[in-house]
Amino acid sequence: MLRDGRLCHGGDYNPEQWPAATWREDVDLMRRARVNLVTVGVFAWSRLEPAPGRYDFGWLDEVLDLLHDGGIRVALATPTASPPPWFSLAHPDALPVTADGVRLHHGSRDTYCAAAPAYRAAARGIAATLAARYAHHPAVALWHVHNEYGTTCHCPHTEAAFRRWLIDRHGDLDTLNAAWATSFWSQHYADWAYVSTPRATQYLGNPGQLLDFRRFWSDTLLAAYVEQRDLLKAANPAIPVTTNYVLGDWVPVDHARWAAEVDVVAVDHYPWAVDGGAEEQTALAADLARGWARHGRRRTGGPHPNPATPQRADAPATWLLMESAASQIHTTGRSHTKEPGRMARHSLSHVARGSRGAMFFQWRAPAGGAERFHSALVPHTGADSRVFRESVQLGETLDRLAEVTAGEVAASVALAWDAASGWALRHPGMPSELLDGQAEVAAAHRALWRAGYGCDVVLPGDPLDRYRLLVLPALYLASDATADWVRAHVEAGGHLLVSYLSGVADPHARIRLGGYPGAYRDLLGLRVEEFHPLAADEQVLLSGGGTGRIWSETVHPCGAETVCAYVGGVLDGRPAVTRHRAGAGTTWYLSTRPDDGTYRRLVTEAARAAGVQPVCPDAPPGVEAVRRANPETSWLFLLNHTDRPQRVPVEGVDLLTGVPADGAVTLPAGGTAVIREHPR
Ligand code: GAL
Repeated sequence: MLRDGRLCHGGDYNPEQWPAATWREDVDLMRRARVNLVTVGVFAWSRLEPAPGRYDFGWLDEVLDLLHDGGIRVALATPTASPPPWFSLAHPDALPVTADGVRLHHGSRDTYCAAAPAYRAAARGIAATLAARYAHHPAVALWHVHNEYGTTCHCPHTEAAFRRWLIDRHGDLDTLNAAWATSFWSQHYADWAYVSTPRATQYLGNPGQLLDFRRFWSDTLLAAYVEQRDLLKAANPAIPVTTNYVLGDWVPVDHARWAAEVDVVAVDHYPWAVDGGAEEQTALAADLARGWARHGRRRTGGPHPNPATPQRADAPATWLLMESAASQIHTTGRSHTKEPGRMARHSLSHVARGSRGAMFFQWRAPAGGAERFHSALVPHTGADSRVFRESVQLGETLDRLAEVTAGEVAASVALAWDAASGWALRHPGMPSELLDGQAEVAAAHRALWRAGYGCDVVLPGDPLDRYRLLVLPALYLASDATADWVRAHVEAGGHLLVSYLSGVADPHARIRLGGYPGAYRDLLGLRVEEFHPLAADEQVLLSGGGTGRIWSETVHPCGAETVCAYVGGVLDGRPAVTRHRAGAGTTWYLSTRPDDGTYRRLVTEAARAAGVQPVCPDAPPGVEAVRRANPETSWLFLLNHTDRPQRVPVEGVDLLTGVPADGAVTLPAGGTAVIREHPR
């Protein structure tokens, strides 16, 4: 991307929203903030092709030349996330249809059906036209295909494509009927033509059908991306290609699976919790991105490529925070302005975990349009503003940190993640509507984060040899291969921590019988007989002082010992958390969601038993520590999330100030340090 080895700083730049005079000021300001990469053209289709086949590239030519003259590289976007009005008018069949049959209209963005042939042809058309014109422009460092593939559809095109996908996956109708358990409620399919997408139904839909639709749609969006990528690559194979994605359901895809198809895993992250929550969410998003990026890497010498998410031979393991908010946390119903220093801490939390820089949505706040109050590096006030000054400061900081790209995060704890498990837990007919796979992953990650342990996100099937402790947070679906993967880890002496509902169902969301959790009963030394889901405002008491929420279970130990028990209610005295010796390791089972303090104590015990150390054992509470290292050097990122100065024992040099830290560094309130550590 940036051949000069610098970390990327910049963001989405929308010159089409501004007069030419502003472009010159933009380039001057970008240079002041040491911006070196901007994404141009994301939503510019109607300005590039105002009428079918009539192009206007004059403004883009001028902007790219200006940026190039200013030494700023460009991630040139294809504008296909927002088709222009003429397209929607000419191709009403390419507008998306909701599950209850409503066809959506032009007027926002992401209003297209990715399975509609007219949309796909138009998207290829504009991508090829841009490729022909700009693939050798010296400013272009990266192609940014589309923007957050965030749409879903149930139109006839989608339905036909879904059937084709099902035929590929299941082969014959008997297999499909078995996978979807269609004997239930008279859903048996005797002809492929009878099968539809999961439309709005009178009552609960079919879990297998819903799950397959999610997989199919992720593959459909991926195919739409891949055909653009291939056109861009054909025009100039030297320019890397990516598309940006974001956590959660806005981009309804299996992110890890996509990683093998991009040259750079590009993620957008917008935390939605304020007090401390934004920092935890940032850490999780960055760990996820690094985990996904591992699936885009050529693993020379790596033992077992994961067949579920193959690695491309030529793909580097690069990932980049492509978008974040300069000064905003989106809480429900209001935006919270980031306090001074918070934007830098979030950015460094990403860089510490491997991001090739810190990019933002957006460069300049627009005067109009739906997102006119979204924050920007240049806010409505202009450059004489706190946010712009902080972005100048961040530009300097990132330039001082270029050397850290030589180090990698090394963790001994692996946190398993699987998109389909999260989708399946959301299905209707689950015993509780409070189940949320992403929240379970976040709770486990938060416990590790608060206890000071680094972790890598892994997918079922990934090599586990470097991890002492494997955590399965409500990893609901387990194929036989996944069950074997977990067993092999334990048999090799690894430790395991499993939370409720993991391993309960097979990949089609059919229950594994004989007592829960079917895939891991013997490893955990127990059998779960019944679930007792809790009400939203209910909690159960745990012996030892903690509480549990969301879920509880009747656990029968078959060799496992009780770590803490339920107190009161129907489960009084029965095990809530258990521990079991298995092979040379210990396996732990959590039959409820412990409160944060209890969860943190439990992961600390499990990590200690596994011989895992916190990243910086002497860091005071509220100071986040992340280490990147290679065999010669290590860099310790310290982020003070408290409102008081904090002292951390370290030996080395603070790259941000150039001052030696012999014995300790004192971080200002809300401040950061990046220590190049003395070799130990
Ligand atoms: C992103 C999106 C941007 C902008 C931003 C606002 O997800 O890619 O275009 O909408 O959200 O937070």
